[in-house]
Amino acid sequence: MTHGWSPNTIRDVRDEELTAIAKNTAGFLRQLRGEEAGIVKLADGREVSRLPGLVRWMWDGEFCGAINLRYQPGTEELPPYVSGHVGYSVVPWKRSRGYATRALSLLLPLARQAGLARVLLTCDADNIASCRVITANGGIAEGDEPNADRPDVRKLRFWIDTAPRGP
Ligand SMILES: CC(C)(COP(=O)(O)OP(=O)(O)OC[C@H]1O[C@@H](n2cnc3c(N)ncnc32)[C@H](O)[C@@H]1OP(=O)(O)O)[C@@H](O)C(=O)NCCC(=O)NCCS
Repeated sequence: MTHGWSPNTIRDVRDEELTAIAKNTAGFLRQLRGEEAGIVKLADGREVSRLPGLVRWMWDGEFCGAINLRYQPGTEELPPYVSGHVGYSVVPWKRSRGYATRALSLLLPLARQAGLARVLLTCDADNIASCRVITANGGIAEGDEPNADRPDVRKLRFWIDTAPRGP
């Protein structure tokens, strides 16, 4: 984050996360691991309860990015302010090495363990790299929806079955 990367792709959370880490590192890690309830600030400033979920770092000997899963136990439904079950971001200097594609493939069994038979992912229609990450992992397109953050670009919706796929 000190190099200019924000784990949240909709809102730049660098300053607040670095402050939280400095203030209470153990508490920050507990939240990251989903062991502690927390508050999430949305792009429009609203504060909502953090959904259960997990975060995994991408690592190749050094930090490459993060992928996260969020869900409501017992249902595949998501609250209207959550655009999908999975979010990911790779630091700019580690992109195009297959890391996001691999990270998503490793996250799907964890989503299944969490009780999700399928997961919803959304990405901006012009985010070609993210679309490829999703389709490489079996994403099936299911139309699009308005995009509150970028009204001029539609958000594409994809579902991925979490059952193990053949070779
Ligand atoms: C989207 C993102 C996570 C992809 O991460 P990555 O590790 O570079 O992705 P991969 O290396 O697994 O590449 C996936 C595919 O996208 C392609 N790709 C990578 N960067 C690309 C670019 N800038 N333009 C077009 N295609 C690109 C790769 O060639 C690969 O295609 P292939 O499967 O046909 O070989 C990364 O660009 C990122 O962090 N972007 C900002 C945050 C973001 O958009 N997150 C997703 C929100 S929905």
